[in-house]
Amino acid sequence: MMDGSLSRAAVTDARFLADVLAGLSRPDRTLPSKYFYDARGSALFDAICELEEYYPTRTEMALLARHAGEIAAFAGPDATVVELGSGSSVKVRLLLDRLTTPAAYVPVDISHDHLVQSAARLAADYPGLAVTPVSADYAAGFDLPVGTVPERTLAFFPGSTIGNFTPDDSRTFLAGLGRRLGAGSRLVIGVDRKKRRDVLEAAYDDARGVTAAFNLNLLARINRELDGTFNLGAFAHRAVWAEAQGRIEMHLESLVSQTATVAGRPFRFAAGETILTEISCKYTISGFQALAADAGWRSCCVWTDERGLFSVHALVFEDR
Ligand code: AVI
Repeated sequence: MMDGSLSRAAVTDARFLADVLAGLSRPDRTLPSKYFYDARGSALFDAICELEEYYPTRTEMALLARHAGEIAAFAGPDATVVELGSGSSVKVRLLLDRLTTPAAYVPVDISHDHLVQSAARLAADYPGLAVTPVSADYAAGFDLPVGTVPERTLAFFPGSTIGNFTPDDSRTFLAGLGRRLGAGSRLVIGVDRKKRRDVLEAAYDDARGVTAAFNLNLLARINRELDGTFNLGAFAHRAVWAEAQGRIEMHLESLVSQTATVAGRPFRFAAGETILTEISCKYTISGFQALAADAGWRSCCVWTDERGLFSVHALVFEDR
């Protein structure tokens, strides 16, 4: 580096390696789900969203489209929309099309290049809207553009990504978000609902094996980027509804007794041992409202579909 500081890529790789080594060293092995999303993982996730079994994306899109007018009224005029984990910025267009003179769009995403490209496309489609991408891990904290006014800020957190945090972490995250955005700021958040085991497990273990490929790609990524030696054929995708915790758990199960190395460090796996790669918590409507209230967010409105699959909550942050 010209100035002797570490490049963004080097810092990211060091963090990835440290997180993988730490997760695999625990007795109950885990890998953080945020590392699913390299280029192949992101493409597989897009394919998951199209699957018959994976109801959340289309159900949430339909809810946002149906209630965009009410969401616009909730946001008020001249809103700055801050989207957390904006990805391709597809869903937010349903809101931007209906908001009254939206002032700015602030997409926040960890994937820098994808963020910049998506933001440029959106800016071209919405002339007059100030688009200010923020390249950051939204869960770790980020800076808002100077002059953002709490009462005109609408945070948008779709996709039930909140479910990928534990309830405790969700509370901490939502409280921190409220403090960052300020009293009077608003939040529209998608939250997947509890439902029958068979529906949930099929959504995370589809017949075509796309979710299995998405899960296994994490090992492929470790092999590629961290000099790993995982034998992908010796691990299997598992998705189970853990009723007591109210969450889907995705695991990678070792099919045989084996050793894999990561950056030269050996990790021994017994046959049947699993690595927990993702949790996806599901909530009742009142359960999520109570969690949000604990974090300082008052529920203003909630929309759900006829089949009771998914919910979209509108909340206001109150100074306490
Ligand atoms: C991104 N997140 C909300 C998805 C979910 O449903 O928990 C990730 C996912 N994992 C497997 N399928 C989808």
